[in-house]
Amino acid sequence: MQGKKGVPMTRRVVVLNPKGGSGKTTLATNLVAYYATQGLSPTLMDYDPQGSSTRWLKKRGPELPTIHGIAAFERNLRVTRSFLLRAPVGCDWLVADTPAAVPSHDIPQLVANSDAILVPVLPSDIDIHACSKCISDLLLVAKVRRSEDKIGVVANRVRRNYRSFGTLMRFLDTLHIPVVTTLRDSQNYLRVAETGVGLHEMKQQLVREDTATWEPLVQWLDARRVTDTGGDQPLAGIATHG
Ligand SMILES: Nc1ncnc2c1ncn2[C@@H]1O[C@H](COP(=O)(O)OP(=O)(O)OP(=O)(O)O)[C@@H](O)[C@H]1O
Ligand SMILES: [Mg+2]
Repeated sequence: MQGKKGVPMTRRVVVLNPKGGSGKTTLATNLVAYYATQGLSPTLMDYDPQGSSTRWLKKRGPELPTIHGIAAFERNLRVTRSFLLRAPVGCDWLVADTPAAVPSHDIPQLVANSDAILVPVLPSDIDIHACSKCISDLLLVAKVRRSEDKIGVVANRVRRNYRSFGTLMRFLDTLHIPVVTTLRDSQNYLRVAETGVGLHEMKQQLVREDTATWEPLVQWLDARRVTDTGGDQPLAGIATHG
């Protein structure tokens, strides 16, 4: 999609769930690596002072397709953040990894100007409860309208014979929030996390079962509307912690 003056428009994806360990960094890093393998120009924006996405990117070999990184958490807060957090020119997918324990009142700024919000959730009662709270905050505090169709849940680390996500599914159903894909619990995610590569960059015979589950996710993201903010708006001007 082209913006004003034929410049490609940046799609902005925020991966959010204040519950720690739900898979935000896993989703964000594998997503940018996927876009890089497709010949696109992705940017990984790391809002987490723990810097896990940034560490993953630093491990990435120079022979692999380039992913631009912005360690948003490192920025000097006295400098105008809205200026610093602009997507680089030519970036077609900007994916933001966010920290655990983001307070509700910070969520509106984190998701401002986003085209899609991915909420990963693990299959445990505590995680399902936290996911429901996150969705409620997105709707009620950040005032994301359901008609925008930009919130998608990703069921993560799902094992065979897992206890169903019944309660969560019913809750999401009543709110018309889709579960865009289900990722299985797989050692492949641990391997790629350690080596700065993405799932789609591993030997296909090793990861075929996992890459198949990314298809509905990337298709859903492709179908999101692009918020035409003039093509040059910052993702967020949030003062990150740390
Ligand atoms: N589908 C999966 N299969 C196996 N391991 C996974 C999967 N998803 C995530 N993990 C592992 O679970 C751990 C937590 O995942 P991740 O770091 O992505 O969560 P997070 O939401 O970013 O955590 P934090 O809130 O601390 O930033 C990591 O060790 C990651 O490799
Ligand atoms: Mg993380």
